Amino acid sequence: MKTSISSGYAELSKAVAQNVIDCVKAKPDALICIAGGDTPLGVFAALVEAQNQGRVDFSRTQFLGLDEWLGLGLADKGSCREMVWHHFFDKLTLREEQICFFDGLTHDPQAECKRVDGYIEKHGPIDCIVLGIGMNGHIGFNEPGASLENTCHVIDLDPVTQTVSVKYFGTPREVKQGISLGLKTILASKKIVLMASGEKKAAIVAQTVNHPTSVEIPSTLVKTVPQANLFVDKAAASAL
Ligand code: PGA
Repeated sequence: MKTSISSGYAELSKAVAQNVIDCVKAKPDALICIAGGDTPLGVFAALVEAQNQGRVDFSRTQFLGLDEWLGLGLADKGSCREMVWHHFFDKLTLREEQICFFDGLTHDPQAECKRVDGYIEKHGPIDCIVLGIGMNGHIGFNEPGASLENTCHVIDLDPVTQTVSVKYFGTPREVKQGISLGLKTILASKKIVLMASGEKKAAIVAQTVNHPTSVEIPSTLVKTVPQANLFVDKAAASAL
């Protein structure tokens, strides 16, 4: 896995955005998946700017959501849907059929998994996926110990993830489960961009790079994919 180290978050975000732009330029109807969370916010901004400047055309691109907190929807601050719509989809000119995103408010999570799996069967594999790294090494909501055979599935969230979640919601919330693309789908992506920013990610970035591939640290599994790159800023690279 090639590692690119940027001087700071702005440069990191631009470098990752350029990967997405290159993918869409090569294949205008590409299937793109970009994580929610704090890490990709700069990527969203860079992609919106690129669209506004005419440097990329998303009119035929398909967008797939990576994961969602079960029980949360667009009206919930900090849900994946709220973050991705607010920072990205609302600022692009997209048609509804260009987006497939987990409905965290579903009353039938298994049917929701089937729906998204069906979409991936029709439009997949993912051409380019941008992943953050959880403090415990999770990718999407594939927590330590996740199965390599999983497609879309419901997950009991790891205590680390539940604790970290407060930063999105601004207040503690009962989030016990998530719904996510599985490792099988993620690792079948044609291109994976794994990104991390800031000193708090330095330890898990070093583990991702140095630890043998293991489901106990899901981010290490990205190293098994030939077209996988790690993009970090100096602070996140400080323990490498
Ligand atoms: P973050 O989350 O981008 O908010 O740090 C990363 C993740 O948990 O995957």
